Amino acid sequence: MSVHKVIKRVTTNTILSMKTKGEKVTMLTAYDFSTAKALDEAGIDVLLIGDSAANVFAGYETTLPITLDNMIYHASAVARGTKRALVLADLPFGEYQGTAEDAFKAAVRMMKESGVHALKLEGGIEIIDNIAKIINAGIPVCGHLGLTPQSINKFGTFSVRAQEDAEAQKLKADALALQAAGCFAVVLEKIPAKLAREVSQSLTIPTIGIGAGDGCDGQVLVVNDMLGFTKDFKPKFLRQYTNMYESVVEAASRYAADVKSGNYPNESEQY
Ligand code: KIV
Repeated sequence: MSVHKVIKRVTTNTILSMKTKGEKVTMLTAYDFSTAKALDEAGIDVLLIGDSAANVFAGYETTLPITLDNMIYHASAVARGTKRALVLADLPFGEYQGTAEDAFKAAVRMMKESGVHALKLEGGIEIIDNIAKIINAGIPVCGHLGLTPQSINKFGTFSVRAQEDAEAQKLKADALALQAAGCFAVVLEKIPAKLAREVSQSLTIPTIGIGAGDGCDGQVLVVNDMLGFTKDFKPKFLRQYTNMYESVVEAASRYAADVKSGNYPNESEQY
């Protein structure tokens, strides 16, 4: 008899059935092997290799500079760190907004070279043919509407989206179009809670909110933010579960003091 516990992988079907059962979906971003392992052990349903790696990992102001090669590097590390979670990767800016053929090629590269299970693309009706081509090839896609950070230069601000009726109506139509194209979920970012609830109720696929209130079918946060590692980023929607920045400063300061004083390494810490 095997002593190894068999861990059942979360699939896109699991995510869909969670909506039917009224069970909330948990999603966090991850960019590296060690963090992915810890989040997987914590039972997070979906690990997203967000292109927010451009911000929190690489220090860029926007998500635009990150490349497909960069994303594949992060995504493959996360995929190797998980046994249970569904692993979802962003396609980066510029890789899927052109022709359907280009979008398809980028999607195939990500799937072949990283080992993730699904992809996330920002946008609605404008890119629906490209999304359909990727889904038709057997690659599950999660949509992303609202404050889509790859369009920050069009928006000009990181403030709440779809507060005006025209943008809210467009978002509702986009969500239905993504569902009709075969998306298995939609991320809703920084939109009014009332609108997010209405969209969630209009869909059979789950909505995953970030700054979109409690009417969504699940929630996602950037892991560095919820761990308190991004020191000065404190938007209203963010709940910090620990203060990792302070812990790291404190631990690194103690290490430095120990090395300087000759207290590290001690007898038991050498060969
Ligand atoms: O890139 C990212 O981290 C994301 C989440 C904010 C949803 O897209």
